[in-house]
Amino acid sequence: MSADGLAISVHGLTKTYGRLVAVDHIDMSIPTGSIFGLLGPNGAGKTTTIKLLTGITDITDGSATVAGFDVRREPMSVKQRVGWVAAEVILDDDLSGWENLWLQAQLQRLSDWKGRADQLLKYFELSDRRKDKVGTYSTGMRKKMEIALALLHEPEVIFMDEPTIGLDANVRRMLWDLITGVNRSFGVTVLLTSHYIEEADALCDRVAIIDQGRIVVTGSPSELKSRVKEDFIELETSESVTQEKLAAIPGVSEVRSQGRAWVLRVASAEEVLPAVFHALKTDGIRRINVEKPSLESVFIDITGKRIDQGGSDVPDYRKFYANLRRAQR
Ligand SMILES: Nc1ncnc2c1ncn2[C@@H]1O[C@H](COP(=O)(O)OP(=O)(O)O)[C@@H](O)[C@H]1O
Ligand SMILES: [Mg+2]
Repeated sequence: MSADGLAISVHGLTKTYGRLVAVDHIDMSIPTGSIFGLLGPNGAGKTTTIKLLTGITDITDGSATVAGFDVRREPMSVKQRVGWVAAEVILDDDLSGWENLWLQAQLQRLSDWKGRADQLLKYFELSDRRKDKVGTYSTGMRKKMEIALALLHEPEVIFMDEPTIGLDANVRRMLWDLITGVNRSFGVTVLLTSHYIEEADALCDRVAIIDQGRIVVTGSPSELKSRVKEDFIELETSESVTQEKLAAIPGVSEVRSQGRAWVLRVASAEEVLPAVFHALKTDGIRRINVEKPSLESVFIDITGKRIDQGGSDVPDYRKFYANLRRAQR
């Protein structure tokens, strides 16, 4: 643990790929023992940030200290003290739970790991399935196993990149409980990324919202939500409508275009909706959505966009990794 009580400290951290600035001068201070969320849409720079902090990819500019060590100067010391739970499957289905732990111990070059492995299996209630092939585990058990692998070398910090992507609601909630449980029981600092608003809200002590490589705001979920008092009405119309016409609706304080949709800022959606329906023919409204103060509305407030753009990429993503695993056999 570092003297300043921070598990992660980042100043002006930057990564460029050619002309693309994937991570753009970000600053973060993450207290030891906390759960910190990096929330942002696809392509915002979340995975790249984790790659920078774990030393997987080179830092272009700026500095980062993780578990008390400078990532640039002492990458090996950092690697020994961090774990990574990736969205992609890292388990070997043909090996048992115990054999997966053994394999992880080999990869990490751990000599004295069996006691810890036993403890983790007990903690995750997997002891009686330790000899069964991981391929026979349920999704929830697989998630537990992945976290157990990440914790085997007793890391101070674990990184979870979109840990619940593509999971159904029940497993997602179970994983939320696991993450908070692991954080409390093992005192491990968690940095997770997500594009799910409720996830960041439910889990994180503090959240940084990232868009196009930049952190646009940082704070506790309740601090962030209290920034935005107004509601947003998003709508899409079948006929074209002018910005002036929308701005003239009583109660609308701001109008922004977002692709084919419009975003109206209003004091209270309930009070303004009748006027919206009055101004636009009801059958001309193709889609309408009310956003009450939430981390989503904070993001809309700052960027004019939604974070969670439907997640239509998710099935493809799962398929991609399924194919990858098949190819590796
Ligand atoms: N190895 C790479 N080479 C070139 N561009 C990359 C590479 N990795 C990521 N990027 C780009 O950097 C940006 C941030 O990507 P990423 O960190 O994966 O975002 P997120 O995890 O938030 O979805 C994206 O525009 C992505 O296309
Ligand atoms: Mg990513």
